[in-house]
Amino acid sequence: MRRKLVAGNWKMHGLKADLGEVRAIAAAVPGSVDAALCLPFTLIASAVEAAGALQIGAQDVHEAEKGAHTGCVSAAMLVDAGAGLTIVGHSERRADQHETDNQVKAKGEAAHKAGLRVILCVGETLEERDAGRAEQVVTAQVAASLPEAASAEWLALAYEPVWAIGTGRTPTEADVAAMHGAIRAKLRELVGGEAERLRILYGGSVNGANAASLLGCADVDGALVGGASLTAEKFVPIIEAAAKL
Ligand code: 13P
Repeated sequence: MRRKLVAGNWKMHGLKADLGEVRAIAAAVPGSVDAALCLPFTLIASAVEAAGALQIGAQDVHEAEKGAHTGCVSAAMLVDAGAGLTIVGHSERRADQHETDNQVKAKGEAAHKAGLRVILCVGETLEERDAGRAEQVVTAQVAASLPEAASAEWLALAYEPVWAIGTGRTPTEADVAAMHGAIRAKLRELVGGEAERLRILYGGSVNGANAASLLGCADVDGALVGGASLTAEKFVPIIEAAAKL
């Protein structure tokens, strides 16, 4: 039985004035699910103090241990700030920063080496889905960006169809179950029995109204939530929906 993980991704939102939301979310985390917030780098250290059972993480990490990489943040820096996890390979970074599968894999490995847990994102574009290539694209991303020695102790995957992010559109439950099943089948090829323990989150327009049905799909072990994770009012119902499953 895989324990549900509900993670929020604040993207480029959040100032110190919003730490009250972190506190309110932290106060509502039930013991039966894992909950996390992946915050802008600037908020991590102060959020950790307010977080309680809520895990605080980052949204990206550099693959190098240190060096001449102006503007970048290393895994050791994240640990130093108190982060427990990081997202790698979000589609917005794959698109905006041209991150490759190889780079995403290296980021996951660097994060693990420094002691962080990792959420690895994969997902197809609308063009790829319309062309009937969604499963092929996503399973290829999994194969190419999965870190070495992947283990459920520190790694979760997140399936986020690019066309469902921030659009209010979601795949059908059948499509979600089919894709998560395809990802798990690929993981079996790659890591054998560990595939049964690895959590696969769904992300893309998750909200309080659709969380129960999306989280109830076969092979869905949690959610990665953008817009609806910015306030306790919107995020707590999603965490509660996961706790009821
Ligand atoms: P939304 O929940 O805003 O669609 O964002 C999903 C996402 O990209 C989380 O990483």
